[in-house]
Amino acid sequence: MSNLTNKFLLADAFHAPEAGCVETLEQALIQIDSEGVIAAIWRRDEPGYEKAIDYARRDGRLEQWPRGQYLLPGFVDLHVHAPQYPQLGAALDEPLDVWLNKYTFPLEARYADLDFAAATYAQLVGDLIGNGTTTALYFATLHQEATRALADVCLARGQRALIGRVAMDNAEVCPEYYRDPSPEAAVTQTRSFIDYVRAHPANAAGRVAPVVTPRFIPACTDAALAGLGALARECGCRVQTHASESDWEHGYVLARHGVTDAQSLDRFGLLNRGGVLAHAVHMTGADMDLVRARGAGIAHCPASNAYFADAVFPLREALRKGLNVGLGTDISGGPSASLFDACRTAILASRLLESGVDARASPDARGGVPDARIDFRVAFHLATAGGGRALDLPIGVFAPGYRFDALRIDAGAAAGGVRLWDFDHGEQVLQKIVYGATRANVAGVWVDGRAIR
Ligand code: GUN
Ligand code: FE
Repeated sequence: MSNLTNKFLLADAFHAPEAGCVETLEQALIQIDSEGVIAAIWRRDEPGYEKAIDYARRDGRLEQWPRGQYLLPGFVDLHVHAPQYPQLGAALDEPLDVWLNKYTFPLEARYADLDFAAATYAQLVGDLIGNGTTTALYFATLHQEATRALADVCLARGQRALIGRVAMDNAEVCPEYYRDPSPEAAVTQTRSFIDYVRAHPANAAGRVAPVVTPRFIPACTDAALAGLGALARECGCRVQTHASESDWEHGYVLARHGVTDAQSLDRFGLLNRGGVLAHAVHMTGADMDLVRARGAGIAHCPASNAYFADAVFPLREALRKGLNVGLGTDISGGPSASLFDACRTAILASRLLESGVDARASPDARGGVPDARIDFRVAFHLATAGGGRALDLPIGVFAPGYRFDALRIDAGAAAGGVRLWDFDHGEQVLQKIVYGATRANVAGVWVDGRAIR
């Protein structure tokens, strides 16, 4: 696949700028400038459409895709633990607090070994790109060198990435072999990583951004939380963390701080624009209002929530409140590295939330939540435009001013999971892609108009 900078692309496209509403852009013409920003877009029925195609063709800059190839915005994964990739699809037999100590902290501690880190991060980033993830919001580990290596890999591969060196200094929750020795270390190490990313010679375009990353309130002392909040303000950095994930975690914060995760994070200055809270399953309505007011967003991680969260995230309620929500794989709390899977699981979870789940209970006592379901349109929005909006980045939509981060989906790929028939038109094609596409259907991936696969 070739670069699409300075080109005009003529293709069948789908995007979903708003939740629940898909736009089918049949044979749309998209002009991409030399920086990979969308300069203009013409729909087939718009004035100037034919003229623009003629111009692009005569200028030798028209790129035309055959029928059966679909242009989608690149996927935005709002929650990835990069170091946990080696245990993807494993270790899902314990509750969160046990899982962390039994499996996850020992694995993450191995990233003191820079060779191990570089190898697993290269594998992960390549696989995510292969699955169509053009932007990822990563937790790394507390290791400075290994976290820098993740930034190096993302820059070398051309993936848009937001990366946090994980801060965790609370001896009550974090084991001695894997924690920051002091609150000061948590803050200075975070600052050092921010400086590294911002001064990186390959990062002039700012495609990789540093993120202040307290692991979650239980893992941090109040001194570290306060220091990280001040650092985020000083450096103008986004913040990511886990919030109100499970009964245990939510209860821990209530017991220690006497308030919910969202209220506590806000007191420490850790709720800010473009910041992302993972899970948020047990948030109250007032918490959601607070998160929205601060301009932060939510990473909805439906697969991981099934294993660790003890309940289903009230996604519809969050959307009704106008919260910015996107999807996260939560590698390796969820067993898949594909946002196609995250879309399907989000739809499935919402259906179970609406119906209730206990077949032995009578229908009216089954505990279902009315109007909780989402469909493929909402899921597709969350995986693209919703994630972009949560991060406050101009991605996920085909419109002038947005970056051209995009996928070419080959709906006819023999090894893929999509089969189209003569009655498949318009949105139904997208529905089949959302429900069926696999890595084999991802035929091309672009970030800023540059082919990265
Ligand atoms: N809470 C604190 N750390 C983690 C983690 O690694 N994964 C998940 N799902 N929740 C967490
Ligand atoms: Fe997580």
